[in-house]
Amino acid sequence: MRRPDVEIMMKPIIPAELLVDEAVLLTPIAAEDLEMMRAWRNRDDIRIWFNDGRLIEAAQQQAWYRAYLENPADVMFIVRRAADRKPVGTIAIYHIDPEAKRASVGRLIIAEGRGGGLGYAALFRACRTAFAGLGIETLESEVKSGNSAALRINHAVGFRPCASAEEEPIKMQLRPEFIIPPSKV
Ligand SMILES: CC(C)(COP(=O)(O)OP(=O)(O)OC[C@H]1O[C@@H](n2cnc3c(N)ncnc32)[C@H](O)[C@@H]1OP(=O)(O)O)[C@@H](O)C(=O)NCCC(=O)NCCS
Repeated sequence: MRRPDVEIMMKPIIPAELLVDEAVLLTPIAAEDLEMMRAWRNRDDIRIWFNDGRLIEAAQQQAWYRAYLENPADVMFIVRRAADRKPVGTIAIYHIDPEAKRASVGRLIIAEGRGGGLGYAALFRACRTAFAGLGIETLESEVKSGNSAALRINHAVGFRPCASAEEEPIKMQLRPEFIIPPSKV
């Protein structure tokens, strides 16, 4: 019997070697990560830096995940410490537009082991993945002006503000030729 055509929205395929370096390993999020992610995202010291800082209920998180799975323009990762694969946070490449070769990078959380370079390493690795694995030529990032840790990390990776300094949140951009590898910082 002929089966009806079904359009399956696929996530982009990313070569595994792009998702790992000496500092971090990025693994695509899975259903079993959702409660850990929600607990991190609901922490007061984390949610204040997100555009929508409201607490997230378990059902909302599940609904978000179902929609996420159907969206080929959004890939989200658990950030793991490379040494022992311990999950320490999250990062996402989203609004992926293959035609315009543009995407955003964000949802960066380092929940455990802050101040040791994991945030920088996760952002650097996600940017490399977007450029080398997804063919992105312009990456965007938004950071609230009071978030000095995130601004320093964005700057260290090579992001620069792309519009007026008064804008809130601050919009930053990075092109592949301006990414700053760890050894150069
Ligand atoms: C922002 C956040 C991700 C930072 O994570 P972190 O792991 O503590 O950050 P890092 O240790 O990588 O960076 C801290 C500093 O080290 C620098 N750094 C770390 N490793 C580096 C490296 N290998 N090369 C160059 N610079 C490095 C960073 O630029 C930064 O500068 P500083 O020393 O002047 O402070 C974390 O505080 C967090 O999760 N905050 C709440 C959520 C949030 O704000 N997310 C971002 C939303 S835009």
